[in-house]
Amino acid sequence: MRTFYCGQVTEQQLTQTVALCGWVQRRRDHGGVIFVDLRDRSGLVQLVFNPDQADMFSLASELRHEFVIGVKGSVRLRPDGTQNTNLATGLIEIVVTELQLFNRSEALPFQIAEHSTVSSEEVRLKYRYLDLRRPEVYQRFAFRSKVTQAMRRYFDDAGFMDVETPMLTKATPEGARDYLVPSRVHPGEFYALPQSPQLFKQLLMMGGFDRYYQIVKCFRDEDLRADRQPEFTQLDVEMSFQTEAQIQAVLETLIKQLFSDLLHVELPAVLPQLTYAEAMRRFGSDKPDLRIPLELVDVADLLQSVEFNVFAAPANNPNCRVAALRVPRGSDLSRKQIDDYTQYVSIFGAKGLAYIKVNDLAQGIAGLQSPIVKFLPEEVIHAILQRVKAENGDVIFFGADNTKIVNDALGALRIKIGHDLQLLTAEWAALWVIDFPMFDFDSKEQRWSALHHPFTAPALDDIAALNADPGTCISRAYDLVINGVEVGGGSIRIHDAHLQSAVFALLGISESEAYAKFGFLLDALKLGCPPHGGFALGLDRLVMLMTGASSIRDVIAFPKTQSASCPLTNAPSLVDAAQLRELGISVKQKTLVKEPAHG
Ligand code: AMO
Ligand code: AMP
Repeated sequence: MRTFYCGQVTEQQLTQTVALCGWVQRRRDHGGVIFVDLRDRSGLVQLVFNPDQADMFSLASELRHEFVIGVKGSVRLRPDGTQNTNLATGLIEIVVTELQLFNRSEALPFQIAEHSTVSSEEVRLKYRYLDLRRPEVYQRFAFRSKVTQAMRRYFDDAGFMDVETPMLTKATPEGARDYLVPSRVHPGEFYALPQSPQLFKQLLMMGGFDRYYQIVKCFRDEDLRADRQPEFTQLDVEMSFQTEAQIQAVLETLIKQLFSDLLHVELPAVLPQLTYAEAMRRFGSDKPDLRIPLELVDVADLLQSVEFNVFAAPANNPNCRVAALRVPRGSDLSRKQIDDYTQYVSIFGAKGLAYIKVNDLAQGIAGLQSPIVKFLPEEVIHAILQRVKAENGDVIFFGADNTKIVNDALGALRIKIGHDLQLLTAEWAALWVIDFPMFDFDSKEQRWSALHHPFTAPALDDIAALNADPGTCISRAYDLVINGVEVGGGSIRIHDAHLQSAVFALLGISESEAYAKFGFLLDALKLGCPPHGGFALGLDRLVMLMTGASSIRDVIAFPKTQSASCPLTNAPSLVDAAQLRELGISVKQKTLVKEPAHG
């Protein structure tokens, strides 16, 4: 049936007879000759039908978009002036001698070739299989497959064992809501789909497996974004008797190999490490994009006694921050652009965006343009300019509010301006963020929550110190960040039952609740648990970055929309009343339940 893929026929096959299969991308009738662009996953090739074979020619004239055909024909050079240098097969064409029509196609909801102008994503996802026919889409999945193959080779070679963990399980807390699955055999009871295999991989270490990996689906019911899906894939790893440096080296070496082998990009021999505190201070983010050469600079100490209360109040409040962001070449920004940035930071809660344009330092205050200099003493302004190392042509933006708002607002502004003004200094910037706090205070719920997950070990095995000041405790967690995206994270785990119980208690989980939810873990910790740790890497995010895709939806074959639904299958959907009865479930809004046709 086939001797070549369409995109692979070249001058090397001149005068040979080849057999090709694929989809009709385009048909053109040209003065008695029919040209067809035939497409398969490898690309396009041009077919030529001559009128001398009348039956075949007549069938060829019926061909329409996406008809599926097989042809045999001989390869010849295209006549001078008709070559297409944009196409791998652009120097040749196939003079068809046999045509077989496998299948017709009805009119398409969108043209396969012209994706960029295509309709909504909703429509593309509804007909995802049409979208997948486009070679550039296929290429992304071929790349993803190469990544997972390389990962498996890497871990197999290093003595890791691939072990599957349950999908029908108990809640594994990673900070999202669970997807629940009702049990028919135990009415009223539910399994949870795993948010990650976290507890099972720890139990495998307790089982003595020593080195585990798995490429595994995880399920999280959370607000979706471009880099978040309700089901996504992790490369999940756990190791016993290893330090965090050893575990990080396993991931770092893998990432460097993937970039080198698949993208021919050499990442630095040693990736930089930033502490969480430094990342927040300099970049306002725990996943800083280091391609952007802009940094936040603290100026609160200079503003504590000014009369301008927008700055003075937060400057004197320990829960607040006043920071400056110097943008070189920013003094060209128009009033409108600055208004737009002010609007942008308001998304993050900022109440304004004060700025100073530095037109000419030699002129002193007269060389500055700003809505706030009139509120500030001259020596304070000079001290700020000196602190941020201002130069002519800069604009300096200010954030003054509670620390989270300032970090979120200026952190996001830094990235936006970096892209808008094309300030990126490199194509790739990978780094580790380390020394995360153990706990985060949830002021709404008035309790501590785990910043990573509750099984992460504290830097100091000291229960008294933990309880004395949870907010200052550092954990043994680490995140891998590439180009401002958190691609992976992990930690050394707690391997001591008392410490684990103390952390549960600190998180407000009572002893009985801890036993109900994690009793199996607490038991296992008392029955010979080795020190252990690991990490998980977001496969979809990594492939998104490496293929230059703008969303993880582009690298997932059948993704969900922003509202967690699948336009292709219409999941989630109503179920039969009988099915619900069997599960002992009644749905409050009865009209939503479909009665069987003859029920
Ligand atoms: P964490 O929750 O950080 O750690 O997840 C690891 C990585 O998975 C990716 N990721 C996601 N990707 C797409 N959609 C989502 N909704 C989503 N959520 C997370 C991110 C993230 O860095 N058990 C721990 C790992 C460990 O401690 O070993 C865990 O799951 O790239
Ligand atoms: P106002 O006195 O409110 O008119 O603000 C004067 C300048 O300070 C304006 O440029 C505002 O955008 C800016 N501003 C107001 N609140 C803040 C804030 N919390 N952080 C940074 N700039 C602010």
